[in-house]
Amino acid sequence: MLRTAWVAVECRPAATPEELAAHHAVRHAVFVTDQRVFAESDRDPQDDNPRTLHVVGMVDDVVGGTVRLFPLDGEPGLWQGDRLAVLHEHRLRGLGEPLVRYAVRTAAELGGRRMVAHVQLPNVRFFERLGWHHDGDVEVYAGVPHQPMAIDLQR
Ligand SMILES: CC(C)(COP(=O)(O)OP(=O)(O)OC[C@H]1O[C@@H](n2cnc3c(N)ncnc32)[C@H](O)[C@@H]1OP(=O)(O)O)[C@@H](O)C(=O)NCCC(=O)NCCS
Repeated sequence: MLRTAWVAVECRPAATPEELAAHHAVRHAVFVTDQRVFAESDRDPQDDNPRTLHVVGMVDDVVGGTVRLFPLDGEPGLWQGDRLAVLHEHRLRGLGEPLVRYAVRTAAELGGRRMVAHVQLPNVRFFERLGWHHDGDVEVYAGVPHQPMAIDLQR
């Protein structure tokens, strides 16, 4: 349990079917209902990859945020993090940052060398503050401009 300046939070993989459902519910609320990045569902084949970790950010035993991570083919030790989402009512209280740190630490512990993410432009500074750097030109993903970013996991 990490006690931030604001709230006590815990980041870990969803441990039960209910927590996995809550993980997906947060993603749906943020990326489908709120941001409308996806029309009906943000689920994709990576959700069925047995190596994918579906992480929940717990705030006082309630799932308030998510992140997802999985290894990519093509480069040894390459991992991707995505679906970082914090429900409106939990934002700016110190949950998003621990979720990113958890994803980075976990990928490193699993042998990762480098982690990549496609970051929505308003969040680039947030990731830079956490040690991420630009990793190519802006790309449009799901109709939204994203900055490719990366972090060295073997620092
Ligand atoms: C981006 C997001 C995950 C941040 O989560 P959060 O829980 O509000 O972030 P935290 O409270 O941990 O913020 C930590 C610090 O980063 C700052 N911060 C938060 N969002 C930021 C942003 N978009 N840009 C710059 N700084 C930001 C906070 O002010 C805080 O700063 P402080 O330590 O000086 O007080 C959240 O706003 C969110 O879910 N947004 C919608 C979904 C989304 O855009 N996902 C990312 C796709 S790339």
